[in-house]
Amino acid sequence: MPSNQVFNTKDGATYTTSNGAPYPEPYEAQRIGPIGPLALQDFHHIDLLAHFDRERIPERVVHAKGAGAHGYFEVTHDVTDISMAKLFSKVGTKARTTVRFSTVGGESGSADTARDPRGFAIKIRTEEGNWDWVFNNTPVFFIRDPAKFPHFIHTQKRDPQTHLKDADMFWDYLSQNPESAHQVMILFSDRGTPDGYSHEHAYSGHTYKWVNAKGEFVYVQVHVLADKGFKTLNNEQAGALAGENPDYGIQGLFEEIEKGDFPSWTVYVQTMTPEQAEKFRYNVLDLTKVWPHADYPLRPVGKLVLNENPQNYFAEIEQVAFSPSHQVPGAEASADPVLQSRLFSYPDTHRHRLGTNYQQLPVNAPVCPVANFQRDGAMAFNNQGSRPNYQSSIQPLTYKSRAYTTAKHEQFIGACVADLSEVTELDFEQPRALYQKVLGEKGRAALIHNLSVHMKGIKSKTILERQLSVWAAVDQTLADGISKTLGVPTVKPLQVKKASEAVQ
Ligand code: NDP
Ligand code: HEM
Repeated sequence: MPSNQVFNTKDGATYTTSNGAPYPEPYEAQRIGPIGPLALQDFHHIDLLAHFDRERIPERVVHAKGAGAHGYFEVTHDVTDISMAKLFSKVGTKARTTVRFSTVGGESGSADTARDPRGFAIKIRTEEGNWDWVFNNTPVFFIRDPAKFPHFIHTQKRDPQTHLKDADMFWDYLSQNPESAHQVMILFSDRGTPDGYSHEHAYSGHTYKWVNAKGEFVYVQVHVLADKGFKTLNNEQAGALAGENPDYGIQGLFEEIEKGDFPSWTVYVQTMTPEQAEKFRYNVLDLTKVWPHADYPLRPVGKLVLNENPQNYFAEIEQVAFSPSHQVPGAEASADPVLQSRLFSYPDTHRHRLGTNYQQLPVNAPVCPVANFQRDGAMAFNNQGSRPNYQSSIQPLTYKSRAYTTAKHEQFIGACVADLSEVTELDFEQPRALYQKVLGEKGRAALIHNLSVHMKGIKSKTILERQLSVWAAVDQTLADGISKTLGVPTVKPLQVKKASEAVQ
Protein backbone atom coordinates (compact mmCIF):
# COMPACT_ATOMS: atom_id res chain seq x y z
CA MET A 1 0.00 0.00 0.00
CA PRO A 2 1.38 3.39 -0.92
CA SER A 3 1.97 4.85 2.53
CA ASN A 4 3.46 1.65 3.93
CA GLN A 5 5.85 0.88 1.14
CA VAL A 6 8.10 3.76 2.18
CA PHE A 7 8.94 1.81 5.32
CA ASN A 8 11.31 -1.00 4.74
CA THR A 9 13.64 -2.89 6.96
CA LYS A 10 16.76 -1.84 5.10
CA ASP A 11 16.19 1.93 5.14
CA GLY A 12 18.77 2.63 7.86
CA ALA A 13 16.36 4.93 9.67
CA THR A 14 17.40 6.78 12.82
CA TYR A 15 15.75 5.47 15.99
CA THR A 16 13.24 7.97 17.37
CA THR A 17 10.50 8.35 19.97
CA SER A 18 6.93 8.23 18.67
CA ASN A 19 6.97 12.04 18.34
CA GLY A 20 9.93 11.72 16.02
CA ALA A 21 12.77 12.85 18.29
CA PRO A 22 16.06 10.96 17.89
CA TYR A 23 16.72 8.76 20.91
CA PRO A 24 20.04 7.10 21.74
CA GLU A 25 19.12 3.79 23.39
CA PRO A 26 16.02 1.58 22.86
CA TYR A 27 16.53 -0.32 26.14
CA GLU A 28 17.02 2.78 28.23
CA ALA A 29 14.73 3.23 31.24
CA GLN A 30 15.39 6.24 33.44
CA ARG A 31 15.72 5.30 37.09
CA ILE A 32 16.57 6.99 40.36
CA GLY A 33 20.10 5.73 40.88
CA PRO A 34 21.46 2.46 39.40
CA ILE A 35 18.85 0.16 41.03
CA GLY A 36 16.14 2.69 42.03
CA PRO A 37 12.53 3.05 40.85
CA LEU A 38 11.66 4.32 37.36
CA ALA A 39 10.90 7.97 36.54
CA LEU A 40 7.45 9.18 35.44
CA GLN A 41 9.13 11.76 33.18
CA ASP A 42 10.50 8.94 30.97
CA PHE A 43 8.14 9.31 28.02
CA HIS A 44 10.26 7.02 25.83
CA HIS A 45 9.96 4.02 28.14
CA ILE A 46 6.38 4.64 29.29
CA ASP A 47 5.26 5.15 25.69
CA LEU A 48 6.94 1.87 24.69
CA LEU A 49 4.97 -0.08 27.30
CA ALA A 50 1.72 1.84 26.81
CA HIS A 51 1.77 1.24 23.07
CA PHE A 52 2.58 -2.44 23.57
CA ASP A 53 -0.35 -2.74 26.00
CA ARG A 54 -2.68 -1.63 23.20
CA GLU A 55 -1.26 -3.63 20.27
CA ARG A 56 -4.15 -6.04 19.90
CA ILE A 57 -7.37 -5.11 18.19
CA PRO A 58 -10.36 -7.47 18.25
CA GLU A 59 -9.95 -10.34 15.85
CA ARG A 60 -12.74 -10.83 13.34
CA VAL A 61 -15.67 -12.58 15.05
CA VAL A 62 -15.63 -15.02 12.14
CA HIS A 63 -12.86 -15.48 9.54
CA ALA A 64 -10.22 -14.52 12.12
CA LYS A 65 -7.36 -16.53 10.59
CA GLY A 66 -6.27 -15.37 7.19
CA ALA A 67 -3.71 -14.47 4.60
CA GLY A 68 -3.72 -11.89 1.86
CA ALA A 69 -1.99 -10.27 -1.05
CA HIS A 70 -2.35 -7.51 -3.62
CA GLY A 71 -2.70 -7.66 -7.37
CA TYR A 72 -5.12 -6.52 -10.01
CA PHE A 73 -8.47 -7.21 -11.59
CA GLU A 74 -8.42 -6.92 -15.38
CA VAL A 75 -11.50 -6.59 -17.55
CA THR A 76 -11.12 -9.11 -20.38
CA HIS A 77 -14.60 -9.03 -21.91
CA ASP A 78 -17.18 -6.38 -22.70
CA VAL A 79 -20.05 -6.63 -20.21
CA THR A 80 -21.41 -3.09 -20.62
CA ASP A 81 -24.73 -4.60 -21.74
CA ILE A 82 -25.27 -5.84 -18.16
CA SER A 83 -23.38 -3.37 -15.96
CA MET A 84 -22.66 0.33 -16.16
CA ALA A 85 -19.82 0.01 -13.62
CA LYS A 86 -17.06 2.35 -14.74
CA LEU A 87 -14.60 -0.49 -14.20
CA PHE A 88 -16.17 -2.28 -17.17
CA SER A 89 -16.26 0.70 -19.53
CA LYS A 90 -13.15 -0.46 -21.41
CA VAL A 91 -11.79 -3.96 -21.99
CA GLY A 92 -8.21 -4.03 -20.72
CA THR A 93 -8.88 -1.78 -17.69
CA LYS A 94 -6.91 -2.92 -14.68
CA ALA A 95 -7.83 -2.00 -11.10
CA ARG A 96 -5.61 -2.48 -8.08
CA THR A 97 -7.02 -5.21 -5.89
CA THR A 98 -6.45 -6.69 -2.44
CA VAL A 99 -7.58 -10.20 -1.56
CA ARG A 100 -7.90 -11.80 1.88
CA PHE A 101 -8.35 -15.55 2.28
CA SER A 102 -9.53 -17.04 5.55
CA THR A 103 -10.98 -19.94 7.42
CA VAL A 104 -14.23 -19.20 9.26
CA GLY A 105 -14.66 -20.78 12.67
CA GLY A 106 -11.21 -20.82 14.27
CA GLU A 107 -9.35 -18.17 16.20
CA SER A 108 -6.56 -16.14 14.59
CA GLY A 109 -3.95 -18.77 15.55
CA SER A 110 -5.94 -21.77 14.30
CA ALA A 111 -4.86 -24.16 11.54
CA ASP A 112 -5.17 -23.12 7.90
CA THR A 113 -6.08 -26.66 6.84
CA ALA A 114 -9.12 -27.00 9.12
CA ARG A 115 -12.26 -28.38 7.50
CA ASP A 116 -14.14 -25.13 7.04
CA PRO A 117 -15.40 -22.98 4.19
CA ARG A 118 -12.72 -20.53 3.04
CA GLY A 119 -13.42 -16.82 2.86
CA PHE A 120 -12.23 -15.21 -0.35
CA ALA A 121 -12.71 -11.44 -0.09
CA ILE A 122 -11.73 -9.15 -2.93
CA LYS A 123 -11.41 -5.35 -2.78
CA ILE A 124 -11.37 -3.83 -6.27
CA ARG A 125 -10.32 -0.17 -6.25
CA THR A 126 -12.30 1.39 -9.10
CA GLU A 127 -12.46 5.03 -10.22
CA GLU A 128 -15.98 5.15 -8.81
CA GLY A 129 -15.22 3.69 -5.41
CA ASN A 130 -14.13 0.45 -3.84
CA TRP A 131 -16.14 -2.57 -4.91
CA ASP A 132 -15.88 -5.46 -2.45
CA TRP A 133 -16.67 -9.03 -3.41
CA VAL A 134 -16.95 -10.80 -0.06
CA PHE A 135 -17.17 -14.38 -1.27
CA ASN A 136 -16.57 -17.91 -0.02
CA ASN A 137 -15.02 -20.88 -1.81
CA THR A 138 -18.39 -22.65 -1.91
CA PRO A 139 -21.30 -21.70 -4.20
CA VAL A 140 -23.92 -22.11 -1.46
CA PHE A 141 -24.28 -21.45 2.27
CA PHE A 142 -25.71 -23.11 5.40
CA ILE A 143 -28.66 -20.76 5.88
CA ARG A 144 -31.22 -18.71 4.02
CA ASP A 145 -32.60 -17.12 7.17
CA PRO A 146 -30.17 -14.51 8.57
CA ALA A 147 -31.56 -14.87 12.09
CA LYS A 148 -29.83 -18.24 12.26
CA PHE A 149 -26.31 -16.96 11.56
CA PRO A 150 -25.20 -16.17 15.14
CA HIS A 151 -26.73 -19.45 16.39
CA PHE A 152 -25.00 -21.48 13.71
CA ILE A 153 -21.65 -19.76 14.28
CA HIS A 154 -21.89 -20.26 18.06
CA THR A 155 -22.21 -24.00 17.51
CA GLN A 156 -18.82 -23.99 15.76
CA LYS A 157 -17.14 -21.92 18.45
CA ARG A 158 -16.32 -23.12 21.96
CA ASP A 159 -18.78 -24.52 24.50
CA PRO A 160 -19.58 -21.85 27.14
CA GLN A 161 -18.55 -24.17 29.98
CA THR A 162 -15.87 -26.53 28.72
CA HIS A 163 -14.34 -24.01 26.29
CA LEU A 164 -14.03 -26.93 23.89
CA LYS A 165 -15.36 -27.36 20.38
CA ASP A 166 -18.19 -29.84 20.50
CA ALA A 167 -19.45 -32.19 17.76
CA ASP A 168 -22.85 -32.43 19.47
CA MET A 169 -23.38 -28.65 19.26
CA PHE A 170 -22.35 -28.64 15.60
CA TRP A 171 -24.56 -31.55 14.50
CA ASP A 172 -27.42 -30.60 16.84
CA TYR A 173 -27.75 -27.35 14.89
CA LEU A 174 -27.27 -28.87 11.43
CA SER A 175 -29.66 -31.77 11.98
CA GLN A 176 -32.40 -29.35 13.07
CA ASN A 177 -31.81 -27.09 10.09
CA PRO A 178 -31.54 -29.43 7.10
CA GLU A 179 -31.51 -26.64 4.50
CA SER A 180 -27.80 -26.70 5.39
CA ALA A 181 -27.32 -30.16 3.78
CA HIS A 182 -26.04 -28.85 0.43
CA GLN A 183 -23.29 -26.72 1.97
CA VAL A 184 -22.44 -29.38 4.55
CA MET A 185 -21.90 -31.92 1.76
CA ILE A 186 -19.52 -29.59 -0.07
CA LEU A 187 -17.77 -28.90 3.23
CA PHE A 188 -17.30 -32.62 3.90
CA SER A 189 -16.21 -33.42 0.37
CA ASP A 190 -12.47 -32.99 -0.12
CA ARG A 191 -13.24 -29.41 -1.26
CA GLY A 192 -13.70 -28.69 2.46
CA THR A 193 -9.93 -29.00 2.84
CA PRO A 194 -8.40 -27.04 -0.07
CA ASP A 195 -4.68 -27.37 -0.72
CA GLY A 196 -3.67 -23.81 0.13
CA TYR A 197 -5.40 -20.64 -0.97
CA SER A 198 -4.47 -20.33 -4.62
CA HIS A 199 -6.04 -23.60 -5.80
CA GLU A 200 -9.65 -22.84 -4.95
CA HIS A 201 -12.58 -21.09 -6.56
CA ALA A 202 -14.69 -18.29 -5.10
CA TYR A 203 -18.41 -17.75 -5.57
CA SER A 204 -20.71 -14.85 -4.76
CA GLY A 205 -23.15 -17.44 -3.41
CA HIS A 206 -25.74 -14.69 -3.16
CA THR A 207 -27.56 -13.36 -6.15
CA TYR A 208 -26.61 -9.75 -6.87
CA LYS A 209 -28.06 -7.29 -9.39
CA TRP A 210 -26.02 -5.70 -12.14
CA VAL A 211 -27.56 -2.66 -13.81
CA ASN A 212 -26.73 -1.25 -17.22
CA ALA A 213 -26.73 2.39 -18.35
CA LYS A 214 -30.37 2.06 -19.51
CA GLY A 215 -31.47 1.04 -16.03
CA GLU A 216 -32.12 -2.57 -17.02
CA PHE A 217 -30.89 -5.11 -14.54
CA VAL A 218 -30.05 -8.78 -14.48
CA TYR A 219 -29.57 -11.03 -11.50
CA VAL A 220 -26.01 -12.36 -11.36
CA GLN A 221 -24.02 -15.03 -9.63
CA VAL A 222 -20.26 -14.40 -9.77
CA HIS A 223 -17.80 -17.29 -10.14
CA VAL A 224 -14.05 -16.77 -9.66
CA LEU A 225 -12.39 -19.94 -10.95
CA ALA A 226 -8.80 -20.84 -10.12
CA ASP A 227 -6.59 -21.03 -13.20
CA LYS A 228 -4.51 -23.59 -11.32
CA GLY A 229 -7.64 -25.72 -10.70
CA PHE A 230 -9.32 -26.70 -7.42
CA LYS A 231 -6.70 -28.78 -5.62
CA THR A 232 -7.64 -30.44 -2.34
CA LEU A 233 -6.10 -32.29 0.58
CA ASN A 234 -7.67 -35.42 1.99
CA ASN A 235 -8.90 -35.52 5.58
CA GLU A 236 -5.75 -37.15 6.94
CA GLN A 237 -3.32 -34.86 5.06
CA ALA A 238 -5.23 -31.82 6.29
CA GLY A 239 -5.22 -33.16 9.88
CA ALA A 240 -1.48 -33.87 9.82
CA LEU A 241 -0.69 -30.44 8.38
CA ALA A 242 -2.80 -28.77 11.08
CA GLY A 243 -0.22 -30.04 13.58
CA GLU A 244 2.93 -29.79 11.49
CA ASN A 245 2.32 -26.39 9.92
CA PRO A 246 -0.80 -24.54 11.05
CA ASP A 247 0.23 -21.67 8.76
CA TYR A 248 0.38 -23.85 5.64
CA GLY A 249 -1.97 -21.54 3.70
CA ILE A 250 -0.27 -18.27 4.62
CA GLN A 251 3.15 -19.71 3.83
CA GLY A 252 2.16 -21.23 0.49
CA LEU A 253 0.58 -18.00 -0.76
CA PHE A 254 3.52 -15.84 0.33
CA GLU A 255 6.13 -18.14 -1.20
CA GLU A 256 4.29 -18.57 -4.50
CA ILE A 257 4.10 -14.82 -4.95
CA GLU A 258 7.73 -14.27 -3.84
CA LYS A 259 8.97 -16.65 -6.50
CA GLY A 260 6.80 -15.10 -9.22
CA ASP A 261 4.39 -18.03 -9.59
CA PHE A 262 1.42 -15.67 -9.38
CA PRO A 263 -1.97 -17.20 -8.52
CA SER A 264 -4.72 -16.14 -10.90
CA TRP A 265 -8.41 -16.69 -11.42
CA THR A 266 -10.84 -16.21 -14.30
CA VAL A 267 -14.01 -14.35 -13.39
CA TYR A 268 -17.37 -15.34 -14.85
CA VAL A 269 -20.99 -14.44 -14.24
CA GLN A 270 -24.20 -16.36 -14.62
CA THR A 271 -27.05 -14.03 -15.46
CA MET A 272 -30.81 -14.27 -15.16
CA THR A 273 -33.40 -11.74 -16.24
CA PRO A 274 -36.16 -10.78 -13.76
CA GLU A 275 -38.61 -12.67 -15.98
CA GLN A 276 -36.46 -15.81 -15.84
CA ALA A 277 -36.12 -15.39 -12.08
CA GLU A 278 -39.88 -15.43 -11.66
CA LYS A 279 -40.06 -18.78 -13.43
CA PHE A 280 -36.92 -20.34 -11.89
CA ARG A 281 -37.49 -23.70 -10.22
CA TYR A 282 -35.76 -22.44 -7.06
CA ASN A 283 -35.80 -19.08 -5.34
CA VAL A 284 -32.97 -16.92 -6.73
CA LEU A 285 -32.80 -15.25 -3.32
CA ASP A 286 -32.08 -18.54 -1.53
CA LEU A 287 -28.35 -19.03 -1.21
CA THR A 288 -28.60 -22.71 -0.40
CA LYS A 289 -29.17 -23.20 -4.16
CA VAL A 290 -27.03 -22.90 -7.30
CA TRP A 291 -28.12 -22.01 -10.80
CA PRO A 292 -27.51 -25.08 -12.99
CA HIS A 293 -24.70 -24.42 -15.45
CA ALA A 294 -26.60 -26.05 -18.31
CA ASP A 295 -29.41 -23.48 -18.03
CA TYR A 296 -27.32 -20.48 -16.97
CA PRO A 297 -23.90 -20.77 -18.61
CA LEU A 298 -20.82 -18.97 -17.34
CA ARG A 299 -20.00 -15.75 -19.16
CA PRO A 300 -16.39 -14.50 -18.93
CA VAL A 301 -15.77 -11.06 -17.44
CA GLY A 302 -12.20 -10.66 -16.27
CA LYS A 303 -9.10 -11.93 -14.61
CA LEU A 304 -7.80 -11.66 -11.06
CA VAL A 305 -4.04 -11.87 -10.48
CA LEU A 306 -2.15 -11.70 -7.17
CA ASN A 307 1.40 -10.53 -7.77
CA GLU A 308 2.42 -8.56 -4.69
CA ASN A 309 2.90 -9.61 -1.10
CA PRO A 310 2.07 -7.12 1.63
CA GLN A 311 4.98 -5.24 3.17
CA ASN A 312 3.16 -5.09 6.46
CA TYR A 313 0.59 -7.77 7.32
CA PHE A 314 -1.25 -5.78 10.00
CA ALA A 315 -1.66 -2.58 7.96
CA GLU A 316 -2.50 -4.23 4.68
CA ILE A 317 -4.36 -7.44 5.62
CA GLU A 318 -5.52 -7.33 9.26
CA GLN A 319 -6.87 -3.79 8.84
CA VAL A 320 -8.56 -4.42 5.53
CA ALA A 321 -12.32 -4.08 5.87
CA PHE A 322 -14.54 -5.78 3.30
CA SER A 323 -18.29 -5.39 3.06
CA PRO A 324 -20.93 -6.54 0.59
CA SER A 325 -22.36 -3.02 1.07
CA HIS A 326 -19.25 -1.48 -0.52
CA GLN A 327 -20.87 -1.39 -3.98
CA VAL A 328 -20.41 0.92 -6.98
CA PRO A 329 -22.90 2.27 -9.55
CA GLY A 330 -23.81 -0.63 -11.82
CA ALA A 331 -23.90 -3.23 -9.02
CA GLU A 332 -26.53 -3.69 -6.34
CA ALA A 333 -27.55 -6.11 -3.65
CA SER A 334 -30.55 -8.31 -4.31
CA ALA A 335 -33.33 -8.75 -1.76
CA ASP A 336 -31.75 -11.99 -0.44
CA PRO A 337 -32.43 -11.62 3.32
CA VAL A 338 -29.03 -13.03 4.29
CA LEU A 339 -27.28 -10.56 1.99
CA GLN A 340 -29.45 -7.73 3.31
CA SER A 341 -28.35 -8.58 6.86
CA ARG A 342 -24.72 -8.72 5.79
CA LEU A 343 -25.02 -5.19 4.37
CA PHE A 344 -25.52 -4.01 7.95
CA SER A 345 -23.25 -6.44 9.78
CA TYR A 346 -19.89 -5.76 8.12
CA PRO A 347 -19.66 -1.96 8.47
CA ASP A 348 -21.02 -2.42 11.99
CA THR A 349 -18.27 -4.84 12.94
CA HIS A 350 -15.65 -2.65 11.23
CA ARG A 351 -16.64 0.30 13.39
CA HIS A 352 -16.13 -1.95 16.41
CA ARG A 353 -13.00 -3.78 15.18
CA LEU A 354 -11.17 -0.89 13.50
CA GLY A 355 -12.95 2.30 14.54
CA THR A 356 -15.34 4.89 13.15
CA ASN A 357 -12.99 6.05 10.43
CA TYR A 358 -12.02 2.59 9.17
CA GLN A 359 -12.56 3.72 5.58
CA GLN A 360 -9.69 6.20 5.97
CA LEU A 361 -7.09 3.55 6.79
CA PRO A 362 -4.62 3.40 3.89
CA VAL A 363 -5.66 -0.10 2.79
CA ASN A 364 -9.34 0.84 2.78
CA ALA A 365 -9.17 4.39 1.43
CA PRO A 366 -10.70 4.68 -2.04
CA VAL A 367 -8.35 5.71 -4.85
CA CYS A 368 -10.95 8.25 -5.99
CA PRO A 369 -11.78 11.43 -4.03
CA VAL A 370 -14.28 11.10 -1.16
CA ALA A 371 -16.59 14.04 -0.48
CA ASN A 372 -19.38 13.91 2.06
CA PHE A 373 -20.49 15.33 5.39
CA GLN A 374 -18.87 12.80 7.73
CA ARG A 375 -16.42 14.54 10.04
CA ASP A 376 -14.27 13.98 13.12
CA GLY A 377 -14.19 10.91 15.32
CA ALA A 378 -11.18 8.86 16.35
CA MET A 379 -8.36 8.67 13.77
CA ALA A 380 -9.96 11.17 11.38
CA PHE A 381 -6.79 11.79 9.41
CA ASN A 382 -8.53 12.80 6.18
CA ASN A 383 -11.10 15.22 7.57
CA GLN A 384 -11.89 16.94 4.26
CA GLY A 385 -10.15 20.24 5.08
CA SER A 386 -12.23 23.40 4.90
CA ARG A 387 -15.04 21.83 2.87
CA PRO A 388 -18.41 22.65 4.51
CA ASN A 389 -19.65 19.94 6.88
CA TYR A 390 -23.31 20.39 5.89
CA GLN A 391 -25.20 20.65 2.61
CA SER A 392 -24.15 24.19 1.87
CA SER A 393 -25.60 26.55 -0.76
CA ILE A 394 -22.44 28.67 -0.54
CA GLN A 395 -20.05 25.89 -1.50
CA PRO A 396 -22.23 23.01 -2.71
CA LEU A 397 -20.95 19.59 -3.73
CA THR A 398 -21.74 18.23 -7.18
CA TYR A 399 -24.31 15.45 -7.25
CA LYS A 400 -24.18 12.75 -9.89
CA SER A 401 -27.77 11.71 -10.44
CA ARG A 402 -28.74 8.05 -10.45
CA ALA A 403 -29.74 7.52 -14.06
CA TYR A 404 -32.04 4.59 -13.41
CA THR A 405 -34.38 2.87 -11.04
CA THR A 406 -34.66 -0.82 -10.35
CA ALA A 407 -37.77 -0.33 -8.27
CA LYS A 408 -39.92 -2.49 -10.53
CA HIS A 409 -38.60 -5.69 -8.95
CA GLU A 410 -38.33 -4.43 -5.39
CA GLN A 411 -41.29 -6.45 -4.20
CA PHE A 412 -39.95 -9.65 -5.75
CA ILE A 413 -39.04 -12.26 -3.18
CA GLY A 414 -38.56 -15.24 -5.46
CA ALA A 415 -40.76 -18.24 -6.02
CA CYS A 416 -40.27 -18.57 -2.37
CA VAL A 417 -41.85 -19.99 0.72
CA ALA A 418 -42.88 -17.35 3.22
CA ASP A 419 -41.12 -19.12 6.05
CA LEU A 420 -37.39 -19.01 5.34
CA SER A 421 -36.85 -22.04 7.56
CA GLU A 422 -39.43 -24.23 5.92
CA VAL A 423 -37.71 -27.22 4.33
CA THR A 424 -39.28 -29.04 1.40
CA GLU A 425 -38.18 -31.75 -0.96
CA LEU A 426 -36.79 -29.01 -3.26
CA ASP A 427 -33.98 -28.59 -0.74
CA PHE A 428 -32.71 -32.09 -1.41
CA GLU A 429 -32.59 -32.00 -5.21
CA GLN A 430 -29.29 -30.17 -5.58
CA PRO A 431 -27.48 -32.05 -2.78
CA ARG A 432 -28.68 -35.25 -4.46
CA ALA A 433 -27.33 -34.09 -7.84
CA LEU A 434 -23.99 -33.31 -6.20
CA TYR A 435 -23.87 -36.78 -4.64
CA GLN A 436 -25.14 -38.78 -7.58
CA LYS A 437 -23.82 -36.87 -10.60
CA VAL A 438 -20.88 -34.65 -9.62
CA LEU A 439 -18.79 -36.36 -6.94
CA GLY A 440 -18.13 -39.67 -8.70
CA GLU A 441 -17.27 -42.89 -6.89
CA LYS A 442 -14.07 -41.58 -5.27
CA GLY A 443 -15.77 -38.35 -4.20
CA ARG A 444 -18.68 -40.24 -2.65
CA ALA A 445 -16.30 -42.51 -0.72
CA ALA A 446 -14.36 -39.47 0.53
CA LEU A 447 -17.59 -37.76 1.61
CA ILE A 448 -18.74 -40.83 3.58
CA HIS A 449 -15.30 -41.17 5.16
CA ASN A 450 -15.00 -37.48 6.10
CA LEU A 451 -18.54 -37.34 7.51
CA SER A 452 -18.02 -40.54 9.49
CA VAL A 453 -14.79 -39.27 11.06
CA HIS A 454 -16.56 -36.14 12.31
CA MET A 455 -19.92 -37.69 13.20
CA LYS A 456 -18.11 -40.33 15.28
CA GLY A 457 -17.69 -37.52 17.84
CA ILE A 458 -21.47 -37.15 18.38
CA LYS A 459 -22.41 -38.37 21.87
CA SER A 460 -26.20 -37.99 21.61
CA LYS A 461 -28.04 -40.86 19.88
CA THR A 462 -30.92 -38.50 19.03
CA ILE A 463 -28.64 -36.05 17.23
CA LEU A 464 -26.79 -38.80 15.37
CA GLU A 465 -30.03 -40.41 14.14
CA ARG A 466 -31.52 -37.04 13.18
CA GLN A 467 -28.49 -36.15 11.05
CA LEU A 468 -28.40 -39.61 9.48
CA SER A 469 -32.04 -39.13 8.51
CA VAL A 470 -31.05 -35.88 6.75
CA TRP A 471 -28.41 -37.78 4.77
CA ALA A 472 -30.95 -40.51 3.98
CA ALA A 473 -33.24 -37.83 2.52
CA VAL A 474 -30.37 -36.87 0.17
CA ASP A 475 -29.60 -40.49 -0.75
CA GLN A 476 -30.16 -43.64 1.30
CA THR A 477 -26.73 -45.01 0.30
CA LEU A 478 -25.04 -41.94 1.78
CA ALA A 479 -26.72 -42.47 5.17
CA ASP A 480 -26.15 -46.23 5.04
CA GLY A 481 -22.46 -45.75 4.20
CA ILE A 482 -22.00 -43.62 7.31
CA SER A 483 -24.12 -45.93 9.50
CA LYS A 484 -22.01 -48.89 8.38
CA THR A 485 -18.73 -47.11 9.11
CA LEU A 486 -19.98 -46.03 12.54
CA GLY A 487 -21.51 -49.48 13.28
CA VAL A 488 -25.00 -48.10 13.99
CA PRO A 489 -28.40 -49.16 12.57
CA THR A 490 -29.59 -47.62 9.31
CA VAL A 491 -32.22 -44.87 9.52
CA LYS A 492 -35.17 -43.84 7.39
CA PRO A 493 -35.17 -40.53 5.47
CA LEU A 494 -36.36 -37.35 7.16
CA GLN A 495 -39.95 -36.71 6.08
CA VAL A 496 -40.33 -33.33 4.40
CA LYS A 497 -43.19 -31.54 2.70
CA LYS A 498 -43.68 -31.46 -1.02
CA ALA A 499 -42.86 -28.05 -2.50
CA SER A 500 -46.57 -27.58 -3.27
CA GLU A 501 -47.43 -27.94 0.45
CA ALA A 502 -45.11 -25.10 1.53
CA VAL A 503 -46.52 -21.92 3.05
CA GLN A 504 -46.71 -19.38 0.23
P1 NDP B 1 -22.39 -29.16 -13.51
O1 NDP B 1 -21.96 -30.57 -13.74
O2 NDP B 1 -22.58 -28.27 -14.68
O3 NDP B 1 -21.34 -28.43 -12.53
C1 NDP B 1 -20.82 -29.10 -11.42
C2 NDP B 1 -19.94 -28.13 -10.66
O4 NDP B 1 -19.57 -28.78 -9.47
C3 NDP B 1 -18.68 -27.66 -11.31
O5 NDP B 1 -18.61 -26.26 -11.17
C4 NDP B 1 -17.55 -28.30 -10.48
O6 NDP B 1 -16.47 -27.48 -10.26
C5 NDP B 1 -18.26 -28.44 -9.16
N1 NDP B 1 -17.77 -29.47 -8.26
C6 NDP B 1 -17.10 -30.60 -8.52
N2 NDP B 1 -16.85 -31.26 -7.37
C7 NDP B 1 -17.38 -30.53 -6.39
C8 NDP B 1 -17.42 -30.67 -4.98
N3 NDP B 1 -16.87 -31.69 -4.36
N4 NDP B 1 -18.05 -29.71 -4.27
C9 NDP B 1 -18.61 -28.66 -4.90
N5 NDP B 1 -18.58 -28.48 -6.21
C10 NDP B 1 -17.97 -29.41 -6.93
O7 NDP B 1 -23.69 -29.26 -12.61
P2 NDP B 1 -24.85 -28.25 -12.20
O8 NDP B 1 -24.57 -26.83 -12.53
O9 NDP B 1 -26.13 -28.82 -12.70
O10 NDP B 1 -24.81 -28.45 -10.62
C11 NDP B 1 -24.86 -29.74 -10.04
C12 NDP B 1 -24.27 -29.63 -8.66
O11 NDP B 1 -22.92 -29.19 -8.76
C13 NDP B 1 -24.98 -28.58 -7.79
O12 NDP B 1 -26.06 -29.06 -7.14
C14 NDP B 1 -23.87 -28.16 -6.86
O13 NDP B 1 -23.88 -28.99 -5.74
C15 NDP B 1 -22.59 -28.37 -7.67
N6 NDP B 1 -22.04 -27.07 -8.12
C16 NDP B 1 -22.75 -26.30 -9.03
C17 NDP B 1 -22.32 -25.04 -9.34
C18 NDP B 1 -23.14 -24.14 -10.21
O14 NDP B 1 -22.92 -22.93 -10.17
N7 NDP B 1 -24.04 -24.65 -11.02
C19 NDP B 1 -21.05 -24.51 -8.78
C20 NDP B 1 -20.35 -25.44 -7.93
C21 NDP B 1 -20.88 -26.64 -7.59
P3 NDP B 1 -15.23 -27.24 -11.28
O15 NDP B 1 -15.49 -25.89 -11.80
O16 NDP B 1 -14.03 -27.32 -10.47
O17 NDP B 1 -15.32 -28.33 -12.31
C1 HEM C 1 -16.46 -12.03 7.64
C2 HEM C 1 -20.96 -11.62 9.34
C3 HEM C 1 -22.53 -14.62 5.87
C4 HEM C 1 -18.22 -14.26 3.71
C5 HEM C 1 -17.53 -11.70 8.42
C6 HEM C 1 -17.48 -10.86 9.59
C7 HEM C 1 -18.74 -10.74 10.06
C8 HEM C 1 -19.59 -11.51 9.20
C9 HEM C 1 -19.21 -9.93 11.26
C10 HEM C 1 -16.21 -10.22 10.16
C11 HEM C 1 -15.84 -9.03 9.30
C12 HEM C 1 -14.69 -8.23 9.80
O1 HEM C 1 -14.39 -8.25 11.01
O2 HEM C 1 -14.07 -7.51 8.98
C13 HEM C 1 -21.78 -12.39 8.54
C14 HEM C 1 -23.21 -12.51 8.71
C15 HEM C 1 -23.65 -13.38 7.75
C16 HEM C 1 -22.49 -13.78 6.97
C17 HEM C 1 -24.02 -11.78 9.79
C18 HEM C 1 -25.04 -13.87 7.47
C19 HEM C 1 -26.13 -13.36 8.03
C20 HEM C 1 -21.52 -14.74 4.95
C21 HEM C 1 -21.65 -15.33 3.64
C22 HEM C 1 -20.44 -15.21 3.03
C23 HEM C 1 -19.53 -14.56 3.95
C24 HEM C 1 -22.95 -15.92 3.08
C25 HEM C 1 -20.02 -15.61 1.64
C26 HEM C 1 -20.86 -15.76 0.61
C27 HEM C 1 -17.37 -13.65 4.61
C28 HEM C 1 -15.96 -13.43 4.36
C29 HEM C 1 -15.44 -12.80 5.50
C30 HEM C 1 -16.55 -12.63 6.42
C31 HEM C 1 -15.19 -13.82 3.11
C32 HEM C 1 -14.00 -12.41 5.75
C33 HEM C 1 -13.70 -11.03 5.21
C34 HEM C 1 -12.26 -10.67 5.46
O3 HEM C 1 -11.39 -11.42 4.98
O4 HEM C 1 -12.02 -9.65 6.11
N1 HEM C 1 -18.82 -12.10 8.21
N2 HEM C 1 -21.39 -13.16 7.49
N3 HEM C 1 -20.22 -14.29 5.11
N4 HEM C 1 -17.70 -13.15 5.85
FE1 HEM C 1 -19.51 -13.16 6.65
